[in-house]
Amino acid sequence: MYAKKIAVVEELVRRQEAWRGQCLNLIASENVLSRRARAAGGSDFAHRYAEGHPGERYYRGTGYIDEIETQLTAHLKILFGCTHCEVRPVSGTNANEAVFSRFVAPGDVVLVNSTPGGGHISHHRLGSLGKFTRNIVDFPLTPDGYHIDVERTAFLIEAVRPKLIVLGKSLFLFPEPVAELAEVCRRTRTRIVYDAAHVLGLIAGKRFQNPLAEGAWVVTASTHKTFFGSQRGVILSNMDEEEWRRIDRGAFPGSSSNHHLDTLAQLAVSTFEMMDFAEAYAEQTIRNARSLAAALDRLGFDVQGRDFGYTESHQVAVNVKAFGGGETVSRRLEANDIILNMNMLPHEPLRNHDRPEGIRLGVQEMTRFGMREPEMEEIARLIHACIVERQDVKEEVNRFRQRFTAVGYSYDDRVEAPSPAEARSAAARG
Ligand SMILES: Cc1ncc(COP(=O)(O)O)c(C=O)c1O
Repeated sequence: MYAKKIAVVEELVRRQEAWRGQCLNLIASENVLSRRARAAGGSDFAHRYAEGHPGERYYRGTGYIDEIETQLTAHLKILFGCTHCEVRPVSGTNANEAVFSRFVAPGDVVLVNSTPGGGHISHHRLGSLGKFTRNIVDFPLTPDGYHIDVERTAFLIEAVRPKLIVLGKSLFLFPEPVAELAEVCRRTRTRIVYDAAHVLGLIAGKRFQNPLAEGAWVVTASTHKTFFGSQRGVILSNMDEEEWRRIDRGAFPGSSSNHHLDTLAQLAVSTFEMMDFAEAYAEQTIRNARSLAAALDRLGFDVQGRDFGYTESHQVAVNVKAFGGGETVSRRLEANDIILNMNMLPHEPLRNHDRPEGIRLGVQEMTRFGMREPEMEEIARLIHACIVERQDVKEEVNRFRQRFTAVGYSYDDRVEAPSPAEARSAAARG
């Protein structure tokens, strides 16, 4: 009776694949999997459970996922230079919850980036953090709105003695003052949580601040924005064993039970791609973001962060109030197959949340498809033609996008057999 409904779903999946393959995808929180990472999705692991840690699971039949999880964790520790790595949270929000649930108690003060200032909902009263305390205070910002005011924040930390401060955000153009706040945090025993959801791949590529080296106590992140992975979360730290045991319990059973094993295998593939390609990819991504920002600026758009070189990440923010605001502009662009999101900007009141003045653009996905600076100029031109000159650019967008269809920074076109020793070790486990 419902077979037709299934066919409808299948058709919608097909259409989505075809449609997004011809769009300019500029949502800053998304990326694409390589062909080989995708192939690990929907494998038998998608049917299985593996609560606990490799070698000490609550279920039998986990030998192969144990091997994958062990390899993945070991290599993430190498990539990020840390002693602890937790890969079981199934999203960045779950990673944050694993930390907040074990280290924040009712009444504790926590400092965060405000929503207009770019903070993520999981750091807020209505999100994960709000389940554990109501005393959530926004960082003071410098007048440009894109930087934390270090002096006033240090004063605030001395005065209110927060349990944690949460650096890192969703509208994330410039590095956070981790090193600058590390000393006052050490003195006041304030832990620094750094949410690297957006910039994990740039950190892996050594083109963004290294929060753990600068003094962060823990890094939480999603694995699928500038990192190449499937949609999951990760926690990284050099904290002591006793504290890490609490995080471990926060991840399981605190914020997830089974951890979606086929996407774990995908993350392992993506992590190995990152090990080889992160530096080149991060370099090109940041170059592209700066190039897109400068091109939009030259075309007359109100690009944010101009006095600071627009951006040091994969993101660009633009105030489009003059063209009807973020909602209107993002819809018009969507009708022309340019996909991005509306975004509040730091000077806006919270009541603007559903009609903000800004848009946020991320270049990480198009960079993975091989676009470089000349293509950023072309994207800026198409946006200008669509929004300012009010032209229909859909066909031009589709033609342009057809030139960039292979996922780069991957081994999709090069398959190597495991070494004899690796093959023997995998066979022995089987
Ligand atoms: C700063 C920040 N933290 C956490 C998250 C949540 O990540 P996820 O969607 O993986 O739960 C996001 C998502 O965009 C984010 O921007």
